[in-house]
Amino acid sequence: MKSKDPIFVTQPTLPPLEDFLPYLREIWDTKILTNTGPFHEQLESELCNYLGVKYISLFTNGTIALIAALRTLRITGEVITTPYSFVATAHSLLWNGIKPIFVDIDPATFNLDPEKIEAAISSQTTAIMPVHCYGRSCDVDKIQKVAERNGLKVIYDAAHSFGVQRDGGFAEKVVVPSRALVRLPAKVDAKISAALSLAGSTAMRMLTERVTVGSGDWVLVIGASSGVGSAAIQIARVSGANVIATASSEPKKALALELGAKHVVNTSDPGWPAEVRKLTDKRGVDVVVEHVGGETLLKCFECLARGGTIVTCGATAGKEVSLNVWSLFVKQQRLVGSYSRDRLDLEATLQWAADGRLQPVIHDVMPLAKAPEAYARLRSRTVLGKLLIAP
Ligand SMILES: Cc1ncc(COP(=O)(O)O)c(C=O)c1O
Repeated sequence: MKSKDPIFVTQPTLPPLEDFLPYLREIWDTKILTNTGPFHEQLESELCNYLGVKYISLFTNGTIALIAALRTLRITGEVITTPYSFVATAHSLLWNGIKPIFVDIDPATFNLDPEKIEAAISSQTTAIMPVHCYGRSCDVDKIQKVAERNGLKVIYDAAHSFGVQRDGGFAEKVVVPSRALVRLPAKVDAKISAALSLAGSTAMRMLTERVTVGSGDWVLVIGASSGVGSAAIQIARVSGANVIATASSEPKKALALELGAKHVVNTSDPGWPAEVRKLTDKRGVDVVVEHVGGETLLKCFECLARGGTIVTCGATAGKEVSLNVWSLFVKQQRLVGSYSRDRLDLEATLQWAADGRLQPVIHDVMPLAKAPEAYARLRSRTVLGKLLIAP
């Protein structure tokens, strides 16, 4: 698989500096710059909630945390670990006077192969230290069994896996924290909810929270057959807007019209923004619902009226674009980011579905065993709306 944008494993995702500065000012006022400061304690307690665990200890970096964990558990002698990791994993052992014993990885997951651990255990072995590589968790059940059979401790170096859940959602049943549950309205069944909860609520947030759309506004929705696009067309139309949607094939165009778009432009023609301007008497649209990024985002500016707003929630086609700032401020336009959804967006989406204002677009329902085939169909870009997996 080739991606234009590099995927960084160790590069942190930072908030905009301006968001961070007010907190820094408060920290300055407390004059507590290490442990037990109010922010430190608040972060520990919020992380406990987020991760659903009882105890958390914050460290300034991962290496010191590993060293402290090994000391606290009084681990000595030999520890079985993975050769496929950042150097800190082995360093934390060596710097504690422990001998790392490297056991090979499973080539499919890059994680320590549980089947190979037992052969490497000696009378000196006291623990196993695997790494959950690249956010994919190790086979923790198998590793736990090996550890219990041999009286060993297990410490996971989870530097790549903060907040990762294991086993995924493709299952007959999944366990989720009760605080994450939302009651379905009477007329909304599991299929409707599955089709709308994620992308539908993303579109809901974009068009009701991040920007508002009024009667008679012109709204351009990118990607009519996508989950966000198909919901956005409907939300904009119910709000009284005139919707122009983009589509790349005849079936997608037909879907856009069925969902309430007034016009559809075909993005296979690179000059499609001119078509949007023509449809709006050269004025351009008031709002663009964008979720693709890259070149598409730039083309959206060509479609935007003076004073108009682009609201965006995705960057699959490219995270970095070069923007004409001159044109942005002269035309007094806005570029607004929208991320994910909160409980209110989700509840609103389900209520709109219950009231019949928002219809799920379900292309097909496939059995659990055909999940890989479902992915192949998505990659073929012929799916209209959602493919559901029924356990
Ligand atoms: C698997 C793994 N363990 C430990 C560390 C060490 O973290 P730090 O650099 O914060 O000491 C890293 C850092 O990238 C890592 O990737």
